[in-house]
Amino acid sequence: MARILSGIQPSGRLHLGNLIGALANWVKLQDKYESFFMIADLHALTTGYMNTKQMKENIFQLAVDMVSSGLDPEKCTIFVQSDVPEHCELNLIFSMITPLAWLERVPTYKSKIDELKDVDLGTYGFLGYPVLQAADILIYKADVVPVGQDQLPHIELTREIARRFNNLYGEVFPEPKELMTEVPVMPGLDGRKMSKSYGNTIAISDPPDVIEKKVNSMVTDPARVRKSDPGHPEVCTVFAYHKIYSGGEIESIGNACRQAAIGCIECKKGLASKLVASLKDIYKKRLELEADRSIIEKMLAVGKEKASVIAKQTLLDAKKTMGLI
Ligand code: TRP
Ligand code: SF4
Repeated sequence: MARILSGIQPSGRLHLGNLIGALANWVKLQDKYESFFMIADLHALTTGYMNTKQMKENIFQLAVDMVSSGLDPEKCTIFVQSDVPEHCELNLIFSMITPLAWLERVPTYKSKIDELKDVDLGTYGFLGYPVLQAADILIYKADVVPVGQDQLPHIELTREIARRFNNLYGEVFPEPKELMTEVPVMPGLDGRKMSKSYGNTIAISDPPDVIEKKVNSMVTDPARVRKSDPGHPEVCTVFAYHKIYSGGEIESIGNACRQAAIGCIECKKGLASKLVASLKDIYKKRLELEADRSIIEKMLAVGKEKASVIAKQTLLDAKKTMGLI
């Protein structure tokens, strides 16, 4: 069975964009691949180093989000990056052979610096972000890495680092392939891309009353001032959600809007109840896992053991091949 590895940063509650964009896909993949899903706490430090007090709780909450969304610890390995310190050692080895120019040209390097104006990202660790990611992937000799479009340059760099290592010292690391996730765009409450940094998210852990409030605050067709004005669903964020959550009813909702047969308040009510219904099982599972923290703690301890066995072996191979031991 081919092996996959992917990771996600513990930087706050997961939102619907993460669920549709990554997690729902991982849930499907866990049946087809030997799967490793990592909570990338060290990567979270690259942009969150100023505020580390929440880290432990964020890791726990992310693990809860992952399991309640359908990742099954019987089928896949869920672990915390810093629990397997071999990642750091391989990162250090890779840092010796990675030219600075490779890192400076990674598009996320400049774009994140522009995006996160209130964090000083002029650090050694942040420049090295993709090297650590390469270590995450290559230490498991992953065949495939499921990621979104924005991560492609990191996978490309991972292949380059693998190639450079293999050329310099000998064949240790297979070159991984990306598995691009095709996903519908999930707009945030304000119509922009759903993102924690915009504060426009619906968290998958939001209770029903919060979901209702958030849906009520969503932007609609700005030209529809009165209920009697015909609407333009194609420009409405609420309608974009209906497309994902209302299945076969989508046409009738669109027509009702265009003919001013339905008001926005009613339309939002309908959406809120569909969202709440689709998140119901996740929410229930989350309450269970929060009530007994030992379930997640045990799962992460098992994950650490399973991941460590492979990581230790690969690191040993790498050091032997280099002639270090
Ligand atoms: N950089 C990834 C992101 O922000 C997270 C990540 C860390 C990752 N290590 C990884 C993804 C290894 C895939 C493989 O989404
Ligand atoms: Fe949007 Fe629904 Fe209002 Fe039409 S009726 S503008 S689809 S919220």
